Formats: sequence, structure tokens, C-alpha cells
Amino acid sequence: MDATIIKIGGSLAVYPEKLKALCTKLSNASNRYRIIVVPGGGEFTDVVRDADKRFRLSNGVSHRMAILGMDQYGFLLSDLIGGSKVINQFDQIQNAFDLHQIPVFLPSNFMLNNDPLENSWDVTSDSIAVYLASRLCISKVVLAKDVEGIFTCDPKTCSDAQLIDQISAKQLEAMNTRTIVDKHLTKLIVQLQIKCFIVNGLFPERVEAVLNGQKTIYTLIY
Ligand SMILES: Nc1ncnc2c1ncn2[C@@H]1O[C@H](COP(=O)(O)OP(=O)(O)OP(=O)(O)O)[C@@H](O)[C@H]1O
Ligand SMILES: [Mg+2]
Repeated sequence: MDATIIKIGGSLAVYPEKLKALCTKLSNASNRYRIIVVPGGGEFTDVVRDADKRFRLSNGVSHRMAILGMDQYGFLLSDLIGGSKVINQFDQIQNAFDLHQIPVFLPSNFMLNNDPLENSWDVTSDSIAVYLASRLCISKVVLAKDVEGIFTCDPKTCSDAQLIDQISAKQLEAMNTRTIVDKHLTKLIVQLQIKCFIVNGLFPERVEAVLNGQKTIYTLIY
């Protein structure tokens, strides 16, 4: 399918005005690009992480509860993206495109019924977005987060952090550091051959540049 999946990270919800600006940008771009929005988890899955710590939940239950958190954020995003439509089945995507709507894909229906990925905190919305792309034969995924891309170390705590322009999934795996993307993502990218752009969603013009195939500030994982 000729379309781009944009996962809107939960990290962006900390900046309401910026998140609204990104959603407006996507809304305005819907007649030029075919975009499918996949929600991140953010605060809605942080609640599940806390409950998991307190009750030592089983992996399967935490996984499912976290995915339901993505649905919650998806509803929130659908309210901010004018002309969007909440969907939960693949066959609703084409119809949304035909009507120039932006489908916001709520993952729980598909993920809970098919359970295609490992049930662990190594699999978060990053991996789910890439997995859904492969199921839809989409080769380009944008992960919009609150940082410029992947740095050599966390830029919030490390003063000499350097932005990585592009990196193969194998190299990233070999770095073996806790970075911005979930642990399972590199394995999926190697398997599924998807191009994954980590872009700062606080700068909506960068997200549009990636949709346009232009160079901007990002990290490409290939
Ligand atoms: N090496 C690194 N390079 C860049 N960011 C890093 C790195 N290590 C840790 N981070 C942190 O990762 C955060 C972004 O990832 P996070 O999973 O929190 O956001 P998200 O994917 O947008 O949200 P969610 O997973 O809730 O949808 C950044 O705010 C940054 O502080
Ligand atoms: Mg994340």
C-alpha cells in the first residue's frame, strides 16, 4: 500500500500546544499524502507500567492493558486531528483515504485477537507501528517523538550526545544501549525491511519534510 504510518509518541502529549500544531499539520496534509496514524502509549501505558510494578502482572495481561492504553491515546489524537477517523480494521483504511480522511488506527482489536508479537515491555508502540506497516505492505514508518532522533546517549542527561543521522538496525542492536526506541524494534526492522524515521514531532515541518521525501533532522533506521 502506498501510504506512510506515523506513530505519534505519547511523549508529545506533555506539550499540548505543540501536539495540536502537529495534528493540524497532518490534517492539512491529508489531501497530499496518505497517512495512517498509530497512537503511542504515553501516560496511558505509564499507568499500566505502574500497576505492573505494584502487582507483578503476567506478561500477557500487561501487554494487553498497554495496547488498550494506545487505543485511549488514539481517541485523544482523533479529537485533535481534524478530518480523522478512528478505525480498528485494515479494510477500513482505503475507505478513509477515498474520503480524504486520516485513519487513526486503534490497535487493540487486531492485536488482542491475533497476538502476533512477543508479550513483554520490549514490544511497545514503536514495534507495533512497524509490525502493522509490514502487514499493510507499507515500507515507510515515522516515529514522532520529543527528541531530534537517536543520540549516542540520552540528550536529556548527557551533554556530549551526538545525533545519529542514519544507522542500520543491526548496528543499532550492536550498540546495545537503552535508546529511544523499544528493544524489539531493531529485530523487526531487520526481518521486515522497513525504513523507520525517528523525527521530532515538536517541529511539524520536519514530519512533513519526511512525508515529502526531503532531508531534514532525523535518524533513519534501515
Ligand atoms: N540515546 C537516546 N537518544 C535520544 N533519546 C533518548 C535516548 N535515550 C533515551 N532517550 C529518551 O527517549 C525519550 C523518547 O522515547 P519515549 O518512548 O519516551 O517517547 P515516545 O515513543 O514518543 O512515547 P511512547 O512510547 O509513550 O509513545 C526522549 O524523551 C529521550 O529523553
Ligand atoms: Mg516509546
